[in-house]
Amino acid sequence: MSSIVLKRTNQKMPVVGFGLWKVTKSSCADTVYSAIKAGYRLFDGAGDYGNEKEAGEGVRRALHDGIVKREELFITSKLWNTFHSKEHVNNTAKMQLKLWGLDYFDLFLVHFPIALEYIEPSKKYPPEWWGIDGTTVTLAKVPMAETWVEMEKLVDEGVAKNIGISNTSGSLICDIYRYARIEPQVLQVEIHPYLTQEPLLKFAKTLGMAVTAYSSFGPQSYFELGMHGGVTALFTHNAITSAASKVNRTPAQVLLRWAIQQGLAVVPKSNDPKRLVQNLAVEDFELSEADMKAISGLNANLRMNNPGDIDPRMAIFA
Ligand SMILES: NC(=O)c1ccc[n+]([C@@H]2O[C@H](COP(=O)([O-])OP(=O)(O)OC[C@H]3O[C@@H](n4cnc5c(N)ncnc54)[C@H](OP(=O)(O)O)[C@@H]3O)[C@@H](O)[C@H]2O)c1
Repeated sequence: MSSIVLKRTNQKMPVVGFGLWKVTKSSCADTVYSAIKAGYRLFDGAGDYGNEKEAGEGVRRALHDGIVKREELFITSKLWNTFHSKEHVNNTAKMQLKLWGLDYFDLFLVHFPIALEYIEPSKKYPPEWWGIDGTTVTLAKVPMAETWVEMEKLVDEGVAKNIGISNTSGSLICDIYRYARIEPQVLQVEIHPYLTQEPLLKFAKTLGMAVTAYSSFGPQSYFELGMHGGVTALFTHNAITSAASKVNRTPAQVLLRWAIQQGLAVVPKSNDPKRLVQNLAVEDFELSEADMKAISGLNANLRMNNPGDIDPRMAIFA
């Protein structure tokens, strides 16, 4: 498995990892265990996904059975929006580590550059967007600078080896670089052929920040949530199916390959054991330059995951 060498620590981040969002809680431990057996080494979790305990069980079972060593795994998690203030970052990261049953995260990301009112985990966990009553989004006045200083302390304490940001755009990235003692090593953002984000990728490359593309299959993950914006599935789009037939691979593999061939990391999610294995096999073929171009040509600046759609006060991509 190829990897991207992260700045500062020189740690290797595998280019293909396993995404844990919407991985069914009841089968999550088994899925993670099978994924490790199949060869996955990176797991992309988050407090918000509500399955950290179960994912950790799968990891610990694989460690116990001697399938992998901890240092061969790369575990990512993310800080949710309700925990951005200086009182909560450290405790929350440690609580999440405890759920996983691990001693450190390889990477800890600020999930969204949005601060929401704190919710006591004993009252509601994961807290989600809508507060205790499930309907009211309450913003909190916590600047990113406050959160980032606490993220840096997680590195100092060994809670996280690397820290990074997610869903963050150019102007806020510029600002973080003005004060960061420890620069973000990874940027995780939505990238697929309907949202190619070339200017952001160029900027990240200039800064030496590794980029993980999420939702590589575009609308696929959002159909079940009714958040796909009415677009055609990428899996049936002519540019993808035609490239797939040339390399004798599935459309899913072509979409992942399109991303990693640009130097990005990917974290596909699947609840299906066969698709999970298929998504890992994207390093032994190459897309032609013409097909890469044709696929990138589908760009429509179409974002599926936009908190501004939940509440316009969270229009972080405006
Ligand atoms: N930082 C963030 O804010 C953020 C936001 C979104 C996602 N992420 C991360 O990125 C990961 C991946 O993104 P995602 O979960 O949105 O979706 P995704 O990986 O783009 O797509 C998942 C969807 O594709 C299906 N699928 C998976 N492999 C397939 C294959 N080989 N052939 C056909 N269908 C396939 C899955 O169904 P089955 O499960 O039935 O196979 C599911 O419906 C997440 O799990 C999460 O870790 C991060």
